[in-house]
Amino acid sequence: MQPPRLLLFLPILLPGMRADPEAEPQVIQYLLTGLFANISTAEVSCVALIGDIPILTLHPANWSIHFYWPWVSQAAAQGDAEKIMSQYKIALRNIVRFVHDTVQQTEQHYPLVVQFRTGCVLYPNTTTQGFLNFGWSGRDLVAFEVDKHRWEARQPSQVAELVSKSLNKERSVRVLLEHLLSIWICQSNFIALKRYGRAALERQEPPVATVFARTPSPEQLLLVCHVTGFYPRPISVAWLRDGQEVPPGPALTSSPILPNADLTYQLRSVLAVAPRDGHSYVCRVRHQSLGSRSLLIPWENRSTAPTISITIVVLLLLATASAGGFWWWKHRKGNEAAWETQEFII
Ligand SMILES: *[C@@H]1O[C@H](CO)[C@@H](O)[C@H](O)[C@H]1NC(C)=O
Ligand SMILES: *[C@@H]1O[C@H](CO)[C@@H](O)[C@H](O)[C@H]1NC(C)=O
Ligand SMILES: *[C@@H]1O[C@H](CO)[C@@H](O)[C@H](O)[C@H]1NC(C)=O
Repeated sequence: MQPPRLLLFLPILLPGMRADPEAEPQVIQYLLTGLFANISTAEVSCVALIGDIPILTLHPANWSIHFYWPWVSQAAAQGDAEKIMSQYKIALRNIVRFVHDTVQQTEQHYPLVVQFRTGCVLYPNTTTQGFLNFGWSGRDLVAFEVDKHRWEARQPSQVAELVSKSLNKERSVRVLLEHLLSIWICQSNFIALKRYGRAALERQEPPVATVFARTPSPEQLLLVCHVTGFYPRPISVAWLRDGQEVPPGPALTSSPILPNADLTYQLRSVLAVAPRDGHSYVCRVRHQSLGSRSLLIPWENRSTAPTISITIVVLLLLATASAGGFWWWKHRKGNEAAWETQEFII
């Protein structure tokens, strides 16, 4: 193994760079799944998430609540939460009974899986939207329309008709649901969780990127940009050919964004090129944790070298920055730059 080589980066200044990725809506959701094996049993499991962070789960044996983090139990001790928590087992028992009754009335068959999904979407413009959906055997059955204060069928079937009709009969339940969705989940519950969980919910982990090559055939070189360890999930990964972004096309493929075990994410972007085509290639990564900077990782075309040193360079890309990269390297190193050097054997 050769010692890693730190490289100088290309003094590319990218035009039209935007500072932060678009703000995404924030979602809190409670997911409930019921497995009904026969007329006398129901296995209920439940998990709640804010975005991709689990906050609580129900113990399947006794339906007791397990909080994933101390800040969730702190938030759960606020305001109405305790009162609501004291009622949830009654609500679960009512749901189980309702499903069994519906199976009887509509002559459905066991085993059966039902799902409830409820929660709230908080948009960047601070508008909120509560939701409550009820799925039956893997398909949407009915949903509660918060603005209309009523349940509506989500499929043209006898079960959907019957379920929406019988749920709409209970005016007191509709008033309660409307209150729970628009006032409790969307306001007090969400606001308390966001306040106590700020550190976890606003956590940012910067991406670490490496560039290496594969040669599936003598005529083809696959440039791989592997990006990992970032949080939150939204990210932008692009290839630059001679400083110009390579547009989407058959030569460019990207993996899905996959989870890592430490609640960070990874993905890879692969660009197929002809060997020794005379162009320069750079992988460019933008992420919320980098602010207005980008990671620029040049592909080093050393066809005879057994190993490739990869240097990851954080290049300050403020619109006004026009000084050369070398100056930046000398002055910013150890200040806010993040260096990563890795070796890959190909
Ligand atoms: C219902 O299903 C449960 C779990 O699969 C099983 O243990 C039980 O014997 C079943 N009861 C009847 C009446 O079939
Ligand atoms: C629920 O069951 C689990 C495991 O069986 C147990 O650890 C927990 O203490 C129980 N909780 C309550 C409130 O009984
Ligand atoms: C806020 O954004 C959402 C989603 O983009 C939109 O549906 C809603 O109408 C917006 N509300 C206001 C008050 O602009």
